[in-house]
Amino acid sequence: MGQKKLIKFAAIKEYENVLEYPQGMPGKWNAFFQELEKETTNIALDNLAIAQPSKPLVLELACGRGEYAVGLGRKYANQNFIGLDLKGNRIWKGASIANRDGLKNVAFIRTQIDQVTQYFAKDEVNEIWITFPDPQLRLSKAKKRLTHPKFLRLYQQFLQPNGIVHLKTDSPNLFLFTKTVVELYGLTTITATDNLYSTEFMQSDKWEDRYAIKTYYEGLNIASSNRIHYIQFKLDKELPIELDEKLKEIIAEFEVTETHESLARNGKQAME
Ligand SMILES: C[S@@+](CC[C@H](N)C(=O)[O-])C[C@H]1O[C@@H](n2cnc3c(N)ncnc32)[C@H](O)[C@@H]1O
Repeated sequence: MGQKKLIKFAAIKEYENVLEYPQGMPGKWNAFFQELEKETTNIALDNLAIAQPSKPLVLELACGRGEYAVGLGRKYANQNFIGLDLKGNRIWKGASIANRDGLKNVAFIRTQIDQVTQYFAKDEVNEIWITFPDPQLRLSKAKKRLTHPKFLRLYQQFLQPNGIVHLKTDSPNLFLFTKTVVELYGLTTITATDNLYSTEFMQSDKWEDRYAIKTYYEGLNIASSNRIHYIQFKLDKELPIELDEKLKEIIAEFEVTETHESLARNGKQAME
């Protein structure tokens, strides 16, 4: 492992705003952010009180460098934001910026998304942002897509009823897949566009400034679509397992128009 990565891994171990595989956190995020605000050092997670959140809690999944957690944290001082990713060197970037700029409403969890339910209590999270996740184009990997019902069912365990999910992606295939899931399971679409930065959308009453926050992968245009796709929907229905077979049949018909995965693999070294 490179020296730079080792330095970043060591740094996040000292940061109060990064928790690596934390234990016993469900229900404690409100208290945690209060301690962060007070600039407490060595926050004792075991001693934090379990309480109803006094501020909305927003989660950015597969956050990478955490541009959304940090960008939203800057914009909305009365909400708390958590970026979650496996890669400590990427989290280091967002956590360092939050520390430098005194953003006490921004924190990070280093862990696997598959384990996300271990970190939050029922109804503790208000919104989820998923920004430029790997589209997992191969049909055999569809269950790894972060908007697959398998993941949505995990999110429902801690998202408030009617909680909102935002997906921002350059992948037309992941966008189409997500729209298909939303329609098939009867979830409510709030906004959907296959061209977020089109003049038409930006001049419509649907546009919001927060959509313009740019992430590192957004700039890479890996899917070569030259378009940012965005969908915001409510996780407001049960997601019956029986429909998963139907979903599998529908997506088997999709024509995959991207080469995202091979490009991502080739460019991986440059992106680290
Ligand atoms: C394509 S990058 C996008 C990063 C960032 N959202 C952006 O837009 O720049 C996907 C991110 O997902 C993270 N990731 C992939 N699988 C994960 C998993 N199972 N658990 C946690 N993070 C994961 C990777 O570490 C990576 O940072």
